[in-house]
Amino acid sequence: MKLSRRDFLLTSGVMVGLMASGKFLHSQAWAYTYPSEFEYAELDLEEVGWEAYRNYFKKWCCSTVLAGLVSQLRKRVGGPWKDFPIDAYRWAHGGLAGWGALCGTMVGAGIVIGLVTKDTDTAEAMVNDLAFFYSYTPLPQYQPRKILKAEIQNMSVAGTPVCHISVGRWMSAEGVAFFTEERAERCARLSADVAMKAAQMLNEWYKNGKKYKPKNRVLYNLLHNGITSQNNCMDCHGANVPNPEETYATLKK
Ligand code: HEC
Repeated sequence: MKLSRRDFLLTSGVMVGLMASGKFLHSQAWAYTYPSEFEYAELDLEEVGWEAYRNYFKKWCCSTVLAGLVSQLRKRVGGPWKDFPIDAYRWAHGGLAGWGALCGTMVGAGIVIGLVTKDTDTAEAMVNDLAFFYSYTPLPQYQPRKILKAEIQNMSVAGTPVCHISVGRWMSAEGVAFFTEERAERCARLSADVAMKAAQMLNEWYKNGKKYKPKNRVLYNLLHNGITSQNNCMDCHGANVPNPEETYATLKK
């Protein structure tokens, strides 16, 4: 039996998809649970947003999302959260030490999601939904109770979780350079948006007996495109998007 990627995306789950799409997964990919001493409690979104926003100017995107979530978990849960090293992840700013790769906000949120859900599938589904939110929502939406750096006018749709493209699209909409107070303000507000979205998803999961209903299909882009990817091939390849199956001789057809 040979399934096309499209067939199994329409008819079956991720595992069937992975098995049908070739031997690129050598080891078992089934979900598993794992222990962690970090517990969750329902969080106040507004407080999470404010802590993420106000800490940005010192901690930058990744650590400030951690600050937004962890500061509240310290109050609501305590325990190991009290010693959680928020600043140990600051290197993830600017898409990994300024390399413009993955926006650090999602790294920060993903760290907390992984620590509290203790289940590979749940964490993957939540982080995937967060990437969809980040990529296809006009951002930033957060309105600070007190503006700390600058007034800004524009929201933009990143179309991708990639820092460089996301911030570049916003800069071109706003008409400002990277090293400006406006751009810092934008990333601070966007950090609040991502921290609040993560807290909202975690609250939902928590209140639902620690069950999470994914809103988007997990590994959709990978299976659909046949390569780790986003739905934006033409941004870089123009009209001549290469076909991953024809390119890689090592992939069995
Ligand atoms: C952020 C920019 C970017 C995006 C978006 C992107 N690519 Fe690429 N891709 C590249 C670059 C750069 C290379 C390396 C090309 C080279 O060196 O010739 C590459 C290489 C590839 C290759 C292997 C080399 C080749 O030319 O065959 C494949 C296959 C490929 N991309 C497919 C895709 C597909 C399918 C998508 C969308 C799902 C996509 N790419 C999205 C930048 C991008």
